[in-house]
Amino acid sequence: MLGKLRSAAIIGVDASLVDVEIDVSGGLPTFAVVGLPDSTVRESRDRVRSAVQHSGFQFPARRITVNLAPADVRKSGASYDLPIALGLLAAVGILPPERLAGLLVIGALSLDGRVQAVRGVLPVALLAARLGQRLVLPAANLPEGRIVEEVGLLPAASLAQVVADLNNGAETMPPVTVETAARAAGTTLDLGDVRGQRGARRAVEIAAAGRHNLLLVGPPGAGKTLLARRLPGILPCPTFEEAVASTAIHSVAGLLEPAAGLLPDRPFRAPHHSASHVALIGGGRDPRPGEVSLAHNGVLFLDEIVEFDRRALEALREPMEDGVVRVARALRTVQFPSRFLLVGAMNPCACGYAGESSERCRCSRTDINRYHDRLSGPLRDRIDLTVRVERVPFQLLADDTPAEDSRTVRDRVRRARERQTARYRGDKSSTNADLSGPRLREHGRLDLQGLVLVERAMQRLGLTGRGFDRIRRVARTIADLDESPAIRRSHVAEAIQYRVIH
Ligand SMILES: Nc1ncnc2c1ncn2[C@@H]1O[C@H](COP(=O)(O)OP(=O)(O)O)[C@@H](O)[C@H]1O
Ligand SMILES: [Mg+2]
Repeated sequence: MLGKLRSAAIIGVDASLVDVEIDVSGGLPTFAVVGLPDSTVRESRDRVRSAVQHSGFQFPARRITVNLAPADVRKSGASYDLPIALGLLAAVGILPPERLAGLLVIGALSLDGRVQAVRGVLPVALLAARLGQRLVLPAANLPEGRIVEEVGLLPAASLAQVVADLNNGAETMPPVTVETAARAAGTTLDLGDVRGQRGARRAVEIAAAGRHNLLLVGPPGAGKTLLARRLPGILPCPTFEEAVASTAIHSVAGLLEPAAGLLPDRPFRAPHHSASHVALIGGGRDPRPGEVSLAHNGVLFLDEIVEFDRRALEALREPMEDGVVRVARALRTVQFPSRFLLVGAMNPCACGYAGESSERCRCSRTDINRYHDRLSGPLRDRIDLTVRVERVPFQLLADDTPAEDSRTVRDRVRRARERQTARYRGDKSSTNADLSGPRLREHGRLDLQGLVLVERAMQRLGLTGRGFDRIRRVARTIADLDESPAIRRSHVAEAIQYRVIH
C-alpha cells in the first residue's frame, strides 16, 4: 500500500512543498529514504521506528521506501519525522489515507513518540495558507503557527495523539487575529537613560530618520554601545509584514524561542569582531541566514569595527547595496533578505585617547591615519554619518533628571519618514539614504547659500564628490526632521559636521 501526504522544505527563508510517499511492500525488511535526503533526514528512520513502536503501533517488518519529491530540493533536518510516520501508518492501514488529504505536516519525533519543535514553522504556515491547506505542526510551535491568520492548525504533542485526532476527524484550531504594532517597541532600551551626549543623540536621531548608516568614534566608556542599543527603539514600529519577515528569518536560523510567536521589536544584532564569515553573511551546507539577515529591518551593530576581518567587511557591500545576500549552492542560489541600518563603533586611535584634552594619547598622526584606513573605502562610502562621542563629565552622569525619551524621538522620526514615503512614492528608494545619482540631484537640491557653504567646506576639508553626496543626503534628512520642503543653509551647515573625523 501507498501512504501519501505533503510536507515542506525550507529554501532560504521560504518554504517549498515536498511530497512524501511511503510504499510498504513484501520482501526483506528494509527502510530506505530517497529523494536527496541529507544524513539528518536519513537518521529519521531510527526515530520513526522507535516512535511508532512506543506509540502502541506495530512497526511493519516489510520493505519500506520513502520518497521525498521534488528530488532536486535538498532535504535536511528532523521535520520529516512526523510526515514519514503518518504516511507509514496510512500505508499499513492504521490511518485511513484520505485523512491525510489537504494536510501539510511538519514535526520531529523523539524516540518515545513525542512530537518536538522544529525550525522554520512560520514560512511553512505561510505556504499552507497560500495553498489553502491545514497544517499539522508541533504543539510547541503553535504560537509561531498562529501568526498566520488564514491557516487552520492541528497541534501535535505526540504521534499517538495526532493519529487519534485524525482518526476522529478532529477539527483544526480556528484561525486567530494577531496584534503587533501595539506591542512593538515596548521592551527596548530607552534614550531617557542617556545623560548628555547632545551631538551624538542628534546623530542617532538623524540616522533613524533617514536610515543612514552611522559611525560612532570615541574613547572607551564614552557610551557608544549605550547609544547604539537604543537605535531600534526610535525606528518606526515594525509593520506586520516586517515583523513576519524578522520572525521568519529567526525561525529559519533556529533562533526563535518556540513560545515566542511574532517578534514585536526591530532586531538589534551585535556580532563580535571574531565572528566567522558564514556567521556574519550567512551560508553553510544547508544555508542559514547570517547576522546581516538576522538584522533585517533593524540594526546591525559592529563594535570595534576596524577589528573585523577585512574580507568580512568587504562582503557587507552586497547586502548594503542590494538589501539581499545571495548564497550560491550546487543546485540553486539561495537569497536572504538583509536590509539593515549599520552602526559601527570605533576608538579614535589604537590607544583610544586621540583627540582628548588629557594628552594621554601616544599615537602619531600617521598611526591614527593608518588606524582609520582599516575601514575600507567602499564601506566608508556607505556610511553617511560619522560622529564623535565624547566622554560625559561626572556631574552630568550623576544628574538624575530624565532626558528626552525614545517615544518622543520616535514620533519625530516617524514624521520624517512619512515625508520621505510621500516624496518617493512609486520610487525604488524609500528613504533618503537610498538616494543616488539623478534622484539625489533632484531631491537633494541645495540653494545658492547651501552650495557656497559646501564649496567652502570641500576646500577646507578636502572633501570628494562622494563626500558631497553624503552631505546632501544627510541635509535632506535634517530638512525632513525640520518639516521643511527645501534644504536650507542651516541644514547643510549641520550636515557638514557629520563627516569623517580623525
Ligand atoms: N552618557 C551616558 N549616560 C549614562 N550612562 C553612561 C553614559 N556614557 C557611559 N555611560 C555608562 O558607561 C557604561 C559604558 O558605556 P559604553 O556604551 O559601553 O561605552 P563604549 O561602548 O563607548 O565603550 C555604560 O554602560 C553606562 O552605564
Ligand atoms: Mg562599547
